[in-house]
Amino acid sequence: MNTPRHYLQFKDFTREQYDYLFGRVRWIKDKFKRYEPYHPLFDRTLVMIFEKASTRTRLSFEAGMQQLGGSAIYLNTRDSQLGRGEPVEDAAQVISRMSDVVMIRTFEQDIIDRFAANSRVPVINGLTNEYHPCQILADIFTFIEHRGSIQGKTVAWVGDANNMSYTWLQAAEVLDFKVRVSTPPGYGIDPARAGLAGTGHFELFADPMEACRGADLVTTDVWTSMGFEAENDARMKAFADWCVDADMMAAANSGALFMHCLPAHRGEEVTAEVIDGPQSVVWDEAENRLHVQKALMEYLMLGKV
Ligand code: CP
Repeated sequence: MNTPRHYLQFKDFTREQYDYLFGRVRWIKDKFKRYEPYHPLFDRTLVMIFEKASTRTRLSFEAGMQQLGGSAIYLNTRDSQLGRGEPVEDAAQVISRMSDVVMIRTFEQDIIDRFAANSRVPVINGLTNEYHPCQILADIFTFIEHRGSIQGKTVAWVGDANNMSYTWLQAAEVLDFKVRVSTPPGYGIDPARAGLAGTGHFELFADPMEACRGADLVTTDVWTSMGFEAENDARMKAFADWCVDADMMAAANSGALFMHCLPAHRGEEVTAEVIDGPQSVVWDEAENRLHVQKALMEYLMLGKV
């Protein structure tokens, strides 16, 4: 089992590699909770490049690297040459000679793929328009903590065809579970975009209630990026019936969990009753970004320990 060089999409790792990684997440999280120092990345440097805003991704990578004994440097495209036309290939050559691991949040997957192809050090996808693998890593670890293995289970995705839903589709193929997807007319997913092998791990539903029926996990995401709500009036109207509510949760299995990667708009993609209710595990999910990314950095930089 070779250690992968980069983490750009969920399908970059095999099921066996995820089994190992989730074991490390558990170990690292338990150690952190006991306040036991663990510094395997002493003196290592993480460079974080952000072309889009972030709270969770930035905090979890920066705090995670510090807790593992290393340091983290934040670059945004406004204050660096990255936003002024420097070729991404050149930036990758330079940044990867001064650091040990790079995390990038950018728009197009092509940018992060080109950066990785020219990097001497591991590159991690901190979100592109296409995929958000670190978030799904945290989501699945959270599911495992609460309900055990996700293999054979059913996830209902209600809402937009975005980087989260496409990454769920990839994860279902790698880890062998089902995703029931419901998106509004005109906003449907394109399974080819997820680069799936076509092993039938997802089903499409016109009715979001039907997608939730029998699900072990119901999950959604914002309909419009935070800060851009006013520009998206048409989307808000189209998505109005795709708000996860108590009726959808009641259609799911009795022990079903609710997840949301956050930030959330209560009253739009999810009711306050659901996100603040007993089936919601959104705070565990957010915290687990820290623990999964620590294990991910350890794995990419040190291999199996
Ligand atoms: N869920 C997530 O990626 O949050 P941020 O945008 O705050 O990083």
